[in-house]
Amino acid sequence: MGEQYFAARPKSRRRPAEIEVEVRGHAFTFRTDAGVFSGGEIDRGTELLVDALEIGPCELIVDLGCGYGVIGIVAARLSEGGHVILTDVNERAVALARKNVAANGVANAEVRSGSLYEPVAGLAFDHILCNPPIRAGRGVVDRIVAEAPTHLLEGGRLWMVARTRQGADSLRQRMAHAFGTAEIVKRGSGFKVLRATKEAA
Ligand SMILES: C[S@@+](CC[C@H](N)C(=O)[O-])C[C@H]1O[C@@H](n2cnc3c(N)ncnc32)[C@H](O)[C@@H]1O
Repeated sequence: MGEQYFAARPKSRRRPAEIEVEVRGHAFTFRTDAGVFSGGEIDRGTELLVDALEIGPCELIVDLGCGYGVIGIVAARLSEGGHVILTDVNERAVALARKNVAANGVANAEVRSGSLYEPVAGLAFDHILCNPPIRAGRGVVDRIVAEAPTHLLEGGRLWMVARTRQGADSLRQRMAHAFGTAEIVKRGSGFKVLRATKEAA
């Protein structure tokens, strides 16, 4: 069986490539490689999520499981004066995301290595953005959802995307369980973008 995209130290032979795209009216260049998620082209779910994002200036944002950095880098561009932390367990993804932050001239983002919320322990955000590692298993995805409220400010939002055929509806139910309610904010290409808001206590 081939190597999984969430291996901490991918061993697959390097296949460096560059993707040039326009997203939300901004031009981006992303360096990719073998051994990271969707290295050949930007994932359709990722595209749908960044199209749906409602992000304002001066917001604190985490991109959990950033891969080569598309979601967090676009979010940083959308939040002037804000700050984005991108995280991943895959060292090759972390290195690429760092290069992509620099290559796109993004000054308001940083990349941290580590699992789940460990790299942002003690921090709370306006937005948690996540195209979750479904293949890493239900336990990992459940922890991303269950621990999200602790890492959100009041009114903060968890945004996720999943394939309808890979359990988007059950993911929405798990988000609703953690937050009280969760909504579908966009659909397309067999994916759903889901959002849950942390209400005031
Ligand atoms: C579906 S991919 C999405 C990547 C990127 N956000 C994108 O949209 O292209 C999920 C990412 O989560 C990472 N991941 C897997 N397990 C993780 C964990 N325990 N903590 C943090 N990231 C993890 C994987 O390495 C992978 O890069």
